[in-house]
Amino acid sequence: MTLPSRNLALELVRVTEAAAMTAGRFMGRGDKIAADKAAVDAMRIILNTIEMSAVVVLGEGEKDKAPMLFQGEHLGAGGPPEVDLAVDPIDGTRPLALGLSNAIATVAVAPRGTMFNPGPIVYMHKIAVGPVARDVIDIEAPVAENLKKIAKAKGEDVEHLTAVILDRPRHKDLIAEVRKSGSRIKLIPDGDVAGALMTAWPQSEIDVLLGIGGTPEGVLAACGLRAMGGNIQGILYARDEAEYKRGRDLGYDFHKVLHIDELVSSENVFLAATGITRGDLLDGVSYFADSVRTDSLVMRGLTGTVRQIISTHQLEKLGKISQIIY
Ligand code: FBP
Repeated sequence: MTLPSRNLALELVRVTEAAAMTAGRFMGRGDKIAADKAAVDAMRIILNTIEMSAVVVLGEGEKDKAPMLFQGEHLGAGGPPEVDLAVDPIDGTRPLALGLSNAIATVAVAPRGTMFNPGPIVYMHKIAVGPVARDVIDIEAPVAENLKKIAKAKGEDVEHLTAVILDRPRHKDLIAEVRKSGSRIKLIPDGDVAGALMTAWPQSEIDVLLGIGGTPEGVLAACGLRAMGGNIQGILYARDEAEYKRGRDLGYDFHKVLHIDELVSSENVFLAATGITRGDLLDGVSYFADSVRTDSLVMRGLTGTVRQIISTHQLEKLGKISQIIY
């Protein structure tokens, strides 16, 4: 028997809360870059107060040239543990800028060297499910077959399943296939980290995430799903011949199935996520005259404990001690 060890996710939630509180102020203002910058700056400040030596393995920005926590950037107050860091200060910058739902701030940590590093490969095919269907998915099998197996594992009819899919032209055939099989679809404008986590969060009423989305988002989802007991598989996706060739030259395989334990190879993983705008996974940030309310999920792979943390932050007190302007 050992004593319970430190749960880093309980500290990481302060990072995502800070990012959500600052970014949420930009809701509907149409300025993605300003929102991203606010979230990135807040994240960096709080991350640097946490006792750990972290290296950003999965940052953001490559896709849309947004402000970012740089890949390779060292963060944390120093000392053990040595960890890999995956950050998505705003998953759903566009919906946030437009005042739409489901934008979240999220961050994950795992022991150094255990997170898959996608380098410049921006996208991957994904299939993600919650605990009940974790052993039945196969990303290489036809969608209809996966849906049938997920339905069987859940003791449901295929017609009663709901698949979450990013609303993109590239998913036209996928959407047609899911519709043909009879399952329902929730098309989301953005935010497939939340989409993947929803499959393991019964209140969201989502059974499976399907389609092509960001690779860093896939690794973040893998961290969360390892803690929640779900599963995700991915296959890297190249947008064109040049990207395919560049990736292959760097040693990436666009045909190999990446299983959850390759996306993050340690069970000792921590993830925190805070809602920015109201969504199916988390409530958004609520601002009051003197306080701010946040809704977060905090999870740890070793124990599988998932906490939902609703916090009330006092603006006047924070204003006196914090570098961050909330
Ligand atoms: P950002 O808000 O961080 O830009 O990402 C939003 C997102 O919808 C991700 O959740 C998803 O993985 C990716 O973009 C999909 O990429 P694209 O918008 O290019 O289809």
